[in-house]
Amino acid sequence: MHTKKLTANEEDIVYAGALIRQGEVVAFPTETVYGLGADATNPHAVDKIFQAKGRPSDNPLIVHIASLKDLEGLTREIPDSARRLMDAFWPGPLTLILPKKEGLPHQVTAGLDTVGIRMPDHPVARRLIERAGVPLAAPSANRSGRPSPTTAQHVLEDLEGRIAAVIDGGATGVGVESTVVDMTAGVPMILRPGGITQEQLEQVIGPVKTDPAILRRFGEAKQPPKAPGMKYTHYAPQGEMWIVNREGGAVVAAIQALVDRDKGEGFRVGVLTTDEHVDKYRADAVISCGQRQNLSTIATGLYAALRTFDKQGIERIYAESFPKKGLGVAIMNRLVKAAGYRMIH
Ligand code: TXA
Ligand code: MG
Repeated sequence: MHTKKLTANEEDIVYAGALIRQGEVVAFPTETVYGLGADATNPHAVDKIFQAKGRPSDNPLIVHIASLKDLEGLTREIPDSARRLMDAFWPGPLTLILPKKEGLPHQVTAGLDTVGIRMPDHPVARRLIERAGVPLAAPSANRSGRPSPTTAQHVLEDLEGRIAAVIDGGATGVGVESTVVDMTAGVPMILRPGGITQEQLEQVIGPVKTDPAILRRFGEAKQPPKAPGMKYTHYAPQGEMWIVNREGGAVVAAIQALVDRDKGEGFRVGVLTTDEHVDKYRADAVISCGQRQNLSTIATGLYAALRTFDKQGIERIYAESFPKKGLGVAIMNRLVKAAGYRMIH
């Protein structure tokens, strides 16, 4: 299949909307990462998403809407707390898990009785949903297991020849995926940390829990993660990655010692760091993902940094860690998974 490269102008978005109505899959920018969209009401179209990504069929998709009217066809009931979160954070990087309405293809929800819904805050995503005239089921537009794409070029690296088209809307802003919150539990529970923090949610609806499984290896946590996607290896670069958990200046010396040891054994070694420390290391690739003082820049740059190690043929990667507060929770969740839970204390 030839993958068409589309721009964000009106003519191209109308064309992309027509492809979606015909049952094709199209990658498009959102404010978090690029998504791979298909008509959420068409089971055959949704099947194509799983085929293109190589995604396990027990991992449900998020349905993307452009208007609150679209909720009617998707969910049976909307608790008051969910309404308040929609008012506060939609459009934006927040996915709400709600009771699903009969008739939605089972592929979308992987057979679950609930559906994840979000209204993205990106003009191209909004226009595409409107032109398509249907809600879009859309996971991140990467091959399963790879870092999520934050540019159209990343999408093509993974999916060229496997999808009908990609709309190039430039680099995405937030950089990590939406926060997924289960609104069907007694106390709402974060199943995947993301662009909206627990603190932000609690300001609007009071106490919220976070699934303890998000930072643990599947099998080590007492309960399996409630978001099926959280149990798979994810976001992983090709090199073997380790997170080095040390505070302040000690981290540079600790990582440099590991780099020197591995280089002595003939490995190509990389360091994932921030602007504050980028000049302090000697390695085959020293990559900053942003400013430690401003965690939103780290979220924005994280996935592109992970992909850069692959382009440079790096075999071992040592990463600095971040405080697990605010947006740091989402950043550490992605890093820990990219590292396959390998951590040095
Ligand atoms: O920011 C985002 O959310 C991006 C953009 C494209 O919108 N999408 C995204 O989709 O990250 P995906 O498929 O890569 O991740 C969806 C996550 C998975 O962990 C999945 O298991 C979980 O949401 N999920 C979806 N529906 C669910 C449901 N009904 N119950 C529990 N977890 C669900
Ligand atoms: Mg994903």
